[in-house]
Amino acid sequence: MRDAIRLLLNGRAVELRGVDPRMTLLDWLRVERRMTGTKEGCNEGDCGACTVSVTRLENGRPARRALNACIQLLPMLDGCAVTTVEGAAPAGRLHPAQEAIVRLHGSQCGFCTPGFVMSIHAACGPGAPPEADSPPDLLAGNLCRCTGYGPLLEAARQARAAPRPDWEPDEAALAAMLRGMEDDEDLRLEGGGCVAHAPASLEALCALAAERPQALVVAGATDVGLWLTKRLDEPAELIFTHRVKELRQIIDRENEITIGAGVRYVDARPVLARAATDLGELIRRIGSVQVRNAGTIGGNIANGSPIGDMAPALIALGARIELRHGARLRSLPLEDFFIDYGRQDRAPGELLTAIRLPRPADPQRLRCWKISKRFDQDITAVLGAFDIAVEEGVVRHARIAFGGMAATPKRARALEQALLGRPWTERTVEAALPALAQDFSPIDDMRASAAYRLRAAGALLRKRLIEDMAPGAPTRLAGAREGAA
Ligand SMILES: Cc1cc2nc3c(=O)[nH]c(=O)nc-3n(C[C@H](O)[C@H](O)[C@H](O)COP(=O)(O)OP(=O)(O)OC[C@H]3O[C@@H](n4cnc5c(N)ncnc54)[C@H](O)[C@@H]3O)c2cc1C
Ligand code: FES
Ligand code: FES
Repeated sequence: MRDAIRLLLNGRAVELRGVDPRMTLLDWLRVERRMTGTKEGCNEGDCGACTVSVTRLENGRPARRALNACIQLLPMLDGCAVTTVEGAAPAGRLHPAQEAIVRLHGSQCGFCTPGFVMSIHAACGPGAPPEADSPPDLLAGNLCRCTGYGPLLEAARQARAAPRPDWEPDEAALAAMLRGMEDDEDLRLEGGGCVAHAPASLEALCALAAERPQALVVAGATDVGLWLTKRLDEPAELIFTHRVKELRQIIDRENEITIGAGVRYVDARPVLARAATDLGELIRRIGSVQVRNAGTIGGNIANGSPIGDMAPALIALGARIELRHGARLRSLPLEDFFIDYGRQDRAPGELLTAIRLPRPADPQRLRCWKISKRFDQDITAVLGAFDIAVEEGVVRHARIAFGGMAATPKRARALEQALLGRPWTERTVEAALPALAQDFSPIDDMRASAAYRLRAAGALLRKRLIEDMAPGAPTRLAGAREGAA
């Protein structure tokens, strides 16, 4: 059992013993280490001012990712190499990201600048995320109030094209440094009135969670982090899942894809996009690069939010989930997991371990759309997912699910019945639409009124029909900006 966090900070080995495991990386950097280059803007993962570049081993190879330090808890950095703006380049030199921002006049007041530098820095490293080639996607999680984004986007393009700086270790050297911090020991940390466990195996994790059902489970902390920084919760005990390799596994079989509950969006996206094109696009709309680099598919489901984006699409595709309590395993259809607002079919101490998705026969068949006030970095008002199969002009299969329409992500069973066995025509769709009011009584809130939600949900079904009837018709934001699909 290890009792200290080990990490590299700007290339130097650091061992942390006795720290409060609820402390965020941002607080540690700014308050404990007096490294104030990393800024605090929103403290909730939205603005990117706190972005740092974190390299960890993924499948034996180093992967460098931008993360929001404000919602990363210190134990999550165990085994990682953290680079802050202070470490992006040696004294007197500039990283290509900094050099391009200076040359292109990409900074005015400068408050956001370290965050932009580090987002671009991460995208210049090994294992860059898919968004690296599309600067608007890459920088959607960094806000700037004064400069305007043109020079920053251009800086990202130019820095990505520059050669690797000569002071950075090559991939093999970096892998060796990271491997040097790896071990199979469970981690137990205690400090500031909190105990945290970060087990290294699934067995140990499940045993611990069953024994200590009162402990708060933490995966990517993109939800939990905000409970600490905004709601000021003070959980006395935490169980981290991120060190468990089994939870980060993706098994891509001919008939089924199994996604471990701890798989992060950035890693799930390519596999899910191959299985169903719209799943890839949906994941691109979740938060920002920084959020997708940290957040897990399992956390999104376990959280049980009615506006969590993954559940409606996975329900439409007939996904099942696996749960484990100690050594006891069970599996259930994802749609049955959500009982009511804030209530899921999960016993205290039980963990979500995997999501099993039957491989869709046709990757284009699932259609899903997220409606939110902003295109990027916004939470869903309504999300519709449609898995509809038409044979000889007749609807033979319809699984439809919505988010934002009820207290939980939910199937539209009355709507499905109103479509099944009928011709796939405008007349059928119009006749079926009133069924939506049987399925859902949405609420008014700041994101949308109930009337808007019902109307928008109906419009999405019409859109589904139009995309079939008039392929190529402009029903999406295609071309609205680079990289949009
Ligand atoms: C800026 C920002 C933007 C966001 N945008 C979106 C968005 O567009 N769409 C969207 O859907 N969400 C969004 N989110 C919410 C969040 O990113 C997702 O819900 C994410 O998937 C949560 O995963 P996590 O690994 O971070 O979970 P955590 O925060 O670690 O945990 C979330 C919950 O799940 C529980 N949990 C985690 N893993 C397990 C497990 N294996 N077994 C049992 N319980 C578990 C935790 O105890 C907690 O209750 C956003 C968040 C932020 C900060
Ligand atoms: S301070 Fe705004 S994302 Fe962290
Ligand atoms: S330069 Fe002022 S916020 Fe970006």
